[in-house]
Amino acid sequence: MSRAPRGWLVARMNEGQSPVLFGEGPASSATPPWSSLRRTFGAASLAAGELGADPMAQLEAWLADALEAGELDPNAMSLATADRAGRPDVRIVLLKAVGPRGIVFFGRLDSAKGRQIAGNPHVALCLYWPRLERQVRIRGRAHRLPRAEVGSYFATRPRGSQIGAWASPQSRPIPDRQALERLYDRAAARFGGVATDGAEAGGGISAPPYWGGWRVRPSSVEFWQGRRDRLHDRLAYRRTHRGWRLVRLAP
Ligand SMILES: Cc1cc2nc3c(=O)[nH]c(=O)nc-3n(C[C@H](O)[C@H](O)[C@H](O)COP(=O)(O)O)c2cc1C
Repeated sequence: MSRAPRGWLVARMNEGQSPVLFGEGPASSATPPWSSLRRTFGAASLAAGELGADPMAQLEAWLADALEAGELDPNAMSLATADRAGRPDVRIVLLKAVGPRGIVFFGRLDSAKGRQIAGNPHVALCLYWPRLERQVRIRGRAHRLPRAEVGSYFATRPRGSQIGAWASPQSRPIPDRQALERLYDRAAARFGGVATDGAEAGGGISAPPYWGGWRVRPSSVEFWQGRRDRLHDRLAYRRTHRGWRLVRLAP
């Protein structure tokens, strides 16, 4: 998107056309008002007949499309949890597997997300692929993965990430960056040397006991395709005792 020249915004302001309709607006006057930013969707459409019987297979197909379309981090997803008071929290995690039983991700069991899931296993996931104008929303219950499954995945991680998992007290306050680097160096020394965080798989270090993973068993899965005039296609699978039911939702 091209940037508006500085004077453009000032001129609009002088004409009394408030450039900021919502919130405080952009920090720089060279940036057009956020309220003016919009894009036209409509590269594709989505009909019920195009969707398979199983939403997890459908998600796999859309993930493959996203990878092929060159989306960055096509398996990145927002994971929403709630704390004991019911206040929501959200962060990005990577989808590491998808299959008939659900969607798998990993992290520290005693992180904020880990503690929240332990107290309330109901979670929501959201994936967005801007190039494809697609979104998938999932609601369901998170179940801890068995240790064997955690161990198998952890074994495939690069050595640097393995050491990082041992070293970082995820979600806890730390005094400064140096303290984190010291924790890393100490963990690296413990496992026989400093590692580089390359892309090479399988660093030969086992998973820390406080590190784990979850599988989200979905109760609803919505496939969203952007369309013109905001008349987007929304098709949602809902789990019933007789299998999945597909409903179309208004955009
Ligand atoms: C692209 C991306 C991928 C990430 N993947 C993961 C992940 O798979 N697991 C994880 O624990 N954190 C991941 N993070 C970091 C989380 O967003 C978050 O900072 C961390 O899990 C701590 O969150 P919490 O304090 O709510 O537990 C990722 C962040 C980004 C931006």
